[in-house]
Amino acid sequence: MRFALLAALLVPLAATVVVAQTDPIKDRKAVMKEIGDQTKVAGAMVKGEAPYDAAKAAAIFKTYADGAAKYGALFPAGSDAGDTKAAPAIWSDRAGFDAALAKFKADIAANVGAIGTEAGFKTAMAAVGDNCRTCHQTYKLR
Ligand code: HEC
Repeated sequence: MRFALLAALLVPLAATVVVAQTDPIKDRKAVMKEIGDQTKVAGAMVKGEAPYDAAKAAAIFKTYADGAAKYGALFPAGSDAGDTKAAPAIWSDRAGFDAALAKFKADIAANVGAIGTEAGFKTAMAAVGDNCRTCHQTYKLR
């Protein structure tokens, strides 16, 4: 009797912990949402709608690098179904998706050294920003 009560208390607790740890769809959307928000800040600076700000440029590229580093692990088998815009091609062409993500990371790493000046930041954004469209074209549903 006492055991059954204990088990009844522990099982929902364990289930909650498991759910909290494994919601890859929510996690990957949060990563991209943050990348998207930072890209709006970047776009305003590139277009001259906001003054160039070196600290903001650094924060943008840190968000890109951190997000890209986490991103590949957030597409486990079975997470193609649900409230997601991830295209089936991610699972049918995993090598292509990994290559697109690797190019994003490489372009971030190759350009981060230049973002300390306005001109360098604009060039860096042109190179890195290309990855958004290219990857979304094949691997994100509209
Ligand atoms: C390697 C592929 C890849 C790259 C590179 C990439 N994205 Fe994404 N992005 C995706 C995928 C896949 C989704 C859909 C994820 C989902 O719905 O589960 C997505 C979703 C988004 C979303 C919607 C987030 C939400 O709230 O659901 C935004 C905004 C976004 N990306 C912005 C960007 C921007 C800006 C860049 C470039 C700086 C970028 N992405 C680069 C693959 C990529």
